[in-house]
Amino acid sequence: MIEKPKPLDIEDLWEEDLLTRYPEPDQKAKEEFRNYDSPGRDTVREFYRINHRYQTHDFVQKKRTEFLGLNRRKMTLWEAVEFLNTLVDDSDPDTDLDQTQHLLQTSEAIRADGHPDWFVLTGFLHDLGKVLCLFGEEQWAVVGDTFPVGCRFSDKVVYPEFFEQNPDHHDERYNTKYGIYEPNCGLRNVYMSWGHDEYLYHVMKDYLPEEGLYMLRYHSFYAQHREEAYTHLMDEHDHAYFKWVRAFNPYDLYSKAATPPDVAKLRPYYEDLAAKYLPDTLRF
Ligand SMILES: [Fe+2]
Ligand SMILES: [Fe+2]
Repeated sequence: MIEKPKPLDIEDLWEEDLLTRYPEPDQKAKEEFRNYDSPGRDTVREFYRINHRYQTHDFVQKKRTEFLGLNRRKMTLWEAVEFLNTLVDDSDPDTDLDQTQHLLQTSEAIRADGHPDWFVLTGFLHDLGKVLCLFGEEQWAVVGDTFPVGCRFSDKVVYPEFFEQNPDHHDERYNTKYGIYEPNCGLRNVYMSWGHDEYLYHVMKDYLPEEGLYMLRYHSFYAQHREEAYTHLMDEHDHAYFKWVRAFNPYDLYSKAATPPDVAKLRPYYEDLAAKYLPDTLRF
């Protein structure tokens, strides 16, 4: 067993890995990450080995029961943002953006492109589900690419070879093309691997427009929004709203600004947005 990465290390590595898999259209992938000897790459592999081993249908049900009652904490939007920011890896303060900065860079890039305010707000809060880490969850159950459980794992999911170790892969209930699902049943009827996307969707589901909810719920579902590996589970509604998931993705991946956003200056704007769409306190 290799040494467990520090809380946020895996996030930066995951992001680098994503940029290697999905480089910005006119940019080359990060060369060092293509190198199989890269320690970062080994960490990402180890992360997915564990993730793919333990994200089973049963595990997802267990986590849904554990967390979807949303009775751990009540916070305003800004309290949640500040709470998430306590996740900062302070061993390396000057190279990595903190969580608030990632959120603001994403949302400010959306705002600069003139998108509607709910889209900006969605960008601002899209990773708040990572508070799961602060509730004691392991990183492999919070971040990383997501995928359906309860049916065959696609070989278009990153590191598909690691699904060999997942008990569901050998379980007849779950290892056929459709598994427990009907053809084109709609993703709302499909259980996704557990992580910050699905969790935050449940926190926000009464407050944001459907377009924003799709962005929250499926933003790490690269096997579909980039690879189209699970179209056989999608219905017309999903197809219509995945346009928004794809519209959101570049802001998540490619919105690194040259100068970090001025958090204090931007705060009033985001508090107004929160007041427009969200209740005073959110249940986590
Ligand atoms: Fe995310
Ligand atoms: Fe993100």
